Amino acid sequence: MISGIRGTRDILPAEVGRWQRIERVARDLCARYGYVEVRTPVIEREELFAKGTGESTDIVQKEMYAFTDKGGDRITLRPEATPSMVRTFVEHALEQELPCAKLYSLGPMFRYERPQKGRYRQFHQLDVEVFGIADPAIDAEVIEMASALLFELGIDSAELVINSVGCDACRPQFSEALVAALGERVADLCADCQRRTTTNPLRIFDCKVPADQPIIDQLPHSEDYLCDACRDHFAGVKGHLEAYGLAYRVSHRLVRGLDYYTRTTFEMLGTGLGAQNALLGGGRYDHLVKQLGGPDRPGIGFAVGLERLVLALPEGAAPPEPADAFVVALGDAVWPAARILTRDLRRAGIRALIDYEGRSSKSQMKRANRSGVRHMLILGEDELASNQVTVKTMETGHQQTVARDALADHLRAAGTD
Ligand code: HAM
Repeated sequence: MISGIRGTRDILPAEVGRWQRIERVARDLCARYGYVEVRTPVIEREELFAKGTGESTDIVQKEMYAFTDKGGDRITLRPEATPSMVRTFVEHALEQELPCAKLYSLGPMFRYERPQKGRYRQFHQLDVEVFGIADPAIDAEVIEMASALLFELGIDSAELVINSVGCDACRPQFSEALVAALGERVADLCADCQRRTTTNPLRIFDCKVPADQPIIDQLPHSEDYLCDACRDHFAGVKGHLEAYGLAYRVSHRLVRGLDYYTRTTFEMLGTGLGAQNALLGGGRYDHLVKQLGGPDRPGIGFAVGLERLVLALPEGAAPPEPADAFVVALGDAVWPAARILTRDLRRAGIRALIDYEGRSSKSQMKRANRSGVRHMLILGEDELASNQVTVKTMETGHQQTVARDALADHLRAAGTD
């Protein structure tokens, strides 16, 4: 047997109903908030993420599935959606045709991470992005929508964490302040953090190494280094969140592991998920569109991991719904008519099953029983001659004959009582 690849998962029949429900709720919510769907390719040029996600990030340094294709181009399986969404926005000049540049996308992402509960090498994101709006009202609306998604799925225990990482004007001072505050203690930090002091000192706040924590706890907070414009923006976001009645916690450690963020960053943390407890994460990226060759437009968005939503859903796995009816053919001569009956029922919206290998009526009935259908539809030569079908209701054992023309309506009515 050739098994699936480590860190990938098959979404099996017992679970797929939960996925479909999440996707349905997500699409409906996006439509209500004014987002339109785009579907971008799974493969992109490697440089899109090197430039977009950032050279110094773990994603680009360690986690990308990147390869040279037969034409000699460097290709990457997308590790996240944001750079692709920016690319499509710029490449197709979408702001010209959309009344409001709000886009969403649903699909698989790929990161070569160490697999564990809630962390996979192929996983799925709902990604939501808004372009062209700098006002804090949109930051708060995006966060409110993220929280509405969890609410509508019945996930009610998530915690909202926010921060502001400043902008190009104030972040350099904050980075310098971090390095200055570390001083001699840089040498006591883990190797990753030592590297971060030169590549991106803010990323030190992402460190999970226990020995580093007492040092990190002493470091200055980004909120104290924001320029006036960033401070006003952050106050605006908080004010709007409060007006929505959304509880939040400010964490100066929420710097997020991607290079493009400016100002607002946020995550929603679930309970009972173990170490991988971020259900969703996002933030503002005011320079990314320009950096990737587009007009100077701000952006903000978030992505939610669908595997983590499935884990966090309150209800247990629902088995797939049984079909409505199973057509049983009595005698060889009836098979063609039984297949036509099945086809016609399906066209009329009834979920109908039938057997294939010309089995005996007894073994067809056994299968009908096992399939969990509500009704068995028996077609023998008598029924055929009178244009009728014998309908057996499995639960009660009750049997009646129904005119073929009335059968679909009869089954539909029985399905709703
Ligand atoms: P991210 O925090 O890297 O952000 O990922 C967002 C969400 O994707 C996480 O909160 C988690 O639910 C899920 N996720 C990430 N990695 C994995 C994994 N290996 N296995 C399972 N789930 C995972 C981004 O991707 C940004 N593009 C979000 C964004 C959109 N920022 C602005 N716009």
